[in-house]
Amino acid sequence: MNLFIDNADISAIRHIYEYYPVDGVSTNPTLLSRTGRAPFAVLREIRDFIGADELFVQAVSPDAAGMVREARRIVRELGEETLIKIPAVPEGYKAMKELEREGIRFIGTAVYTVMQGFIAAKCGAEYVAPYVNRIDSMGFDGVQVALDLQDAIDNNGLDSGLIAASFRNTQQVMELIRCGVKSVTVSPEVFAGLTGGAMIDAAVEKFSADFASLTGKGVTMENCD
Ligand code: E4P
Repeated sequence: MNLFIDNADISAIRHIYEYYPVDGVSTNPTLLSRTGRAPFAVLREIRDFIGADELFVQAVSPDAAGMVREARRIVRELGEETLIKIPAVPEGYKAMKELEREGIRFIGTAVYTVMQGFIAAKCGAEYVAPYVNRIDSMGFDGVQVALDLQDAIDNNGLDSGLIAASFRNTQQVMELIRCGVKSVTVSPEVFAGLTGGAMIDAAVEKFSADFASLTGKGVTMENCD
């Protein structure tokens, strides 16, 4: 299972890379807009930092020809480990077919339904990105849609895998990890909740306090008798 950071803020990305086993970074136009900086300046900085890890960058053109031109430039500037996020809509499917012909790696994004994701997978998308929380917000079950999409891909022998996206809480992420999806992409805020919690911190602090009561403050296994 691959774990990606869903963010374009280089300091947040650096921090998470320092502490956690992550496999790459996914961005989208909204996340880039939050940086207030030129898109390629931000993306080059991310690419330089993450090396050959996968980076996901979204095309924004309304038509297939524009998306394909964007994809060519993105890969030229950021390297072949960069996957183009193409919205799973009719113009997007048309673009995907061309990218598949040209050997440019891409994913189907903005997936709210199983059928959208299935068509993107059939177009050759390496990943498809169901938007779990946004589906929940529409009154449906985002985790279940993601799992149904996984079944549709597997049961039809397609090569695509999920990059499940748009999470608001740890539970949504854990359900999908438990079921063995190919990957998830998680915001820094949700990341913090994946591994932390007051009870866990309290348990670790209690071990330290108990040890200090035996050896004195500041003494560790490095320098105790
Ligand atoms: C995924 O490809 C998107 O970048 C993202 O996960 C959407 O998440 P949001 O619902 O938090 O905007």
